[in-house]
Amino acid sequence: MNQKTPVAHEEWSSSTAFILAAAGSAVGLGNIWKFPYMAGMNGGGAFVLVYLLAVAVVGIPTMMAETMMGRRAGRSPLNAMPFLAREAGQGSWWRIIAVMGLVTCFLILSFYSVISGWVMYYLAAMPMGYLQDADPAEVFQSLLANPMLLLGLHTLVMALTMLLIGRGVSKGLELAARWLMPALFIVIVLLVLYAATLKSFGAGVRFLLHFRLADITGQTLLMAVGQAFFSLSIGMCVIMAFGAYAPRTLRRKDGGQQRISIGFMIVVVALIDTAVALLSGLAIFPMVFEHGLQAGEGPGLVFVTLPMAFAQMKGGMVLGTFFFAMVFFGALTSAVSLGEPPVAYLTERGMRRSHAAALVGGLLWFLGIGTVLSFNLWSDYTFLGRTVFDNFDFVSSVILMPIGGLLIALFAGWVMPEALVRDELSMRSVALYRLWRWVLRYITPVAIAAVLGYGFYTNPLVA
Ligand code: PHE
Repeated sequence: MNQKTPVAHEEWSSSTAFILAAAGSAVGLGNIWKFPYMAGMNGGGAFVLVYLLAVAVVGIPTMMAETMMGRRAGRSPLNAMPFLAREAGQGSWWRIIAVMGLVTCFLILSFYSVISGWVMYYLAAMPMGYLQDADPAEVFQSLLANPMLLLGLHTLVMALTMLLIGRGVSKGLELAARWLMPALFIVIVLLVLYAATLKSFGAGVRFLLHFRLADITGQTLLMAVGQAFFSLSIGMCVIMAFGAYAPRTLRRKDGGQQRISIGFMIVVVALIDTAVALLSGLAIFPMVFEHGLQAGEGPGLVFVTLPMAFAQMKGGMVLGTFFFAMVFFGALTSAVSLGEPPVAYLTERGMRRSHAAALVGGLLWFLGIGTVLSFNLWSDYTFLGRTVFDNFDFVSSVILMPIGGLLIALFAGWVMPEALVRDELSMRSVALYRLWRWVLRYITPVAIAAVLGYGFYTNPLVA
């Protein structure tokens, strides 16, 4: 493709649409499933504290850089990186950021779809009363032990995801975010209000917020930073792809034009993401404690412990149905964002969007079989002590995303011409712009490198 001609992509219809879509990408299984169970396993408040720090120091600056790079280039990541590198007088080897990002998208979406399939199953099983009558631990185990059922669910989720992507930016991605995000928010607030009526609400709050510095270990650091990357969807060019569709100006009521600040939009997105993670914890832990269940259950927290709590409470079937509907909405808008970078790239190469979505979906479906089998037929096949699923998860969020984030911070902070960066960000406050630039250049890369280094030192690659 000719580097000079901008690629005509659809745009989000407004800055609010961008915020909703980016929040839709960020809010997902990472907030409602992973965050609570990781906090539960890593000492509650200590993990939450490190996580919040990671969002502030690494997450927000990197997310702004990524969006800025996407909007500047107006192309999908694989074409955006060589374009931006050329603009900065650099070789196209910076494309490696996008290549790594694409690999990460494939790894994550392949397992994300399988886990979203579990959510879909629970969403159907909950209102049918299946989870009230049977033992949730058994339901979960028999689901995981059934490769055909998992494959069927994975197929449904992947088809739905690709259908939305195939419809395009405004009719597919934006439409999903516009309806599903507000619905999710309403449900989570209702669930927290319910949790607040329980005797164990205080215990839940304490668990999330109380910490001792001694509880912070190398493992906590590594996991919290990996989780920040995963939860904010950064370091893998997904937000860069979304940034490419972000509008630059806004028409004011008086008819004038106003530049849209990337800083503002991204801070809103990060706040929404963090709020949903914390609210999920606030909804889940009181319910879990109220029924004498354990917080440190791990990945089964939402699929086993929580259904046990729902089974014991009055109106649990209704609450549970709302809960899983909410998780499913969040998962779907994230899945859609994970599939967008490869599809956008193929459309730039002249392929029809619907064909590109079908092709990418087919490849991902195939790759997802690895995760489906990790829980049953292949559960004994491990590499470095991990199943296929565990390896995909570990390699993507603990290794590839932080390395991608590091390179993005270095590129935006040190390589791109400053005048251009500043113009594209369009922040109104000079002081905040300077703060961003300083953090991005000096703090973010050092923090990521230190955590990666320390993590590998204390936590060997072998599980
Ligand atoms: N942020 C999403 C979540 O928390 C997952 C995701 C990761 C989406 C990376 C896009 C890119 O569920």
